[in-house]
Amino acid sequence: MIAFPGYETVIRRVYENKQEHVFEYWNDLNDSEKKNLLDDLSDVDFSLLLNLFFSAEDAGEMHFDAAPYIALPKSSDEKKEYEKAREAGDLHVRQGKVAAFVVAGGQGSRLGYDGPKGMFPVGPVSGKTLFHIHAEKIAAYSQKYGVHIPFLIMTSRSNHPVTVDYFNKNDFFGLGRDNVFIFPQNMIPSLDAQGKLILESKKSIFKNPDGHGGSLTALYTSGVLERLKERGVETISYFQVDNPLVRIIDSAFIGFHVLRGADVSSKAVKKAYPEEKVGIFVRYGNNTIGVVEYSDMPEEKTHSLDEKGDLRFSSGSIAIHLFQREFVERVTAGTDIALPFHTARKKIKALVGGVRKEVEGFKFEKFVFDALPLTEKNIVFETLREDEFAPVKNSSGVDSVESAQSMMSEQHRRWLRNRGIRVPGKTRVIEISPLVAVEQEDLDAGIKVPEEEQVYIDTNR
Ligand code: UD1
Repeated sequence: MIAFPGYETVIRRVYENKQEHVFEYWNDLNDSEKKNLLDDLSDVDFSLLLNLFFSAEDAGEMHFDAAPYIALPKSSDEKKEYEKAREAGDLHVRQGKVAAFVVAGGQGSRLGYDGPKGMFPVGPVSGKTLFHIHAEKIAAYSQKYGVHIPFLIMTSRSNHPVTVDYFNKNDFFGLGRDNVFIFPQNMIPSLDAQGKLILESKKSIFKNPDGHGGSLTALYTSGVLERLKERGVETISYFQVDNPLVRIIDSAFIGFHVLRGADVSSKAVKKAYPEEKVGIFVRYGNNTIGVVEYSDMPEEKTHSLDEKGDLRFSSGSIAIHLFQREFVERVTAGTDIALPFHTARKKIKALVGGVRKEVEGFKFEKFVFDALPLTEKNIVFETLREDEFAPVKNSSGVDSVESAQSMMSEQHRRWLRNRGIRVPGKTRVIEISPLVAVEQEDLDAGIKVPEEEQVYIDTNR
């Protein structure tokens, strides 16, 4: 057995769990590298990993039906209820009870971009990044409601320093340093096909971010949850970094959430086509509501039709949720209620026999929507895709930069038209700064759109 002063327990646990291959290069390491490796191993939960490894193939059969949801208002009664919700939501925001939370642990690798996805430029005319647009929306809502809405940003270990640097260099986009909280999510080791830890280098094991489900734990361990409590925040408005169309503060949604006493509320859009890559809202046999990821959806259910000939499982998750702070406290603060891990088979770059190569392995991740069945009450709230969902996932085609940019431009064109503002025929692309209007109603009807092909409206001129 190897030895290193102060790390006897860690070393013993590694041997007890038959993972001593991680010390293969021990004799090549200097003292600081040895310490690095042992530190890396010190927080490994071997029994959890073992459990995950042996249950990897055991998905089990799921029984569920389509989830009920609050549909878009049609009748006058529904419209009245909506208006009441909007007022309640407005008040909740004005009282400083809402924080905005973006999960931004992912890299832009699918976009061919080597950096945090939040720093990817998407503004169709301005070229502003996803982070820039989200931050300006929050600044606009803060101004509108006369409060400082805290902006919480979850990063991963690898993109944390760059993200912090980016916000610093841009002076927190005018939000004020005290209102922006940037914190990294936790990491979990991956395993190879034999259930062994994987060496990333001679002095470190391979770990991956623990999924956006790790965001709830990260809120707690970073101390941010406590800070929100001190500030009187009750509701956390959660969204993904890849959606520039997100309506970060939606008073009707917040109002329904508050008035119905929900722990968690989620937004849904009608699926565009059966195989669309979105999670689906379902109701399980025990009456709890949850999300089944598209990849776990049985083929026949994906295409199943109801009596009217419409898709039975049509409520797609756009990964926008409201979480009550107290609910997050309940599921993170050392209780035995926890989100499960999902297992994905992946190719992982490893150091094997002194050579770097790809090995077959298992990555483990938590999904935030697994919190839904843990609630006492949650609601699903229907919304329109063109108003709120333009994910930037791929470099071209479906859910790409171009599709998102064209949806942003179309939305802004619609807003202008609905406000009776003329858009010149030659204007192909149009973008409105969130600081001018974060909702259609904020647009000054006196705005003149210049006769140009590409227009960026950055003042209420
Ligand atoms: C996700 C959802 C899907 C939803 C769709 C909507 C999952 C498993 N699926 O799909 O149900 O319909 O978005 O666009 O999430 N992230 C972290 N840390 C992590 C992993 C992810 O912060 O460890 C963040 C990413 O930065 C991104 C978001 O979570 O903002 C989504 O991750 P991504 O892997 O892109 O999910 P999708 O498969 O696209």
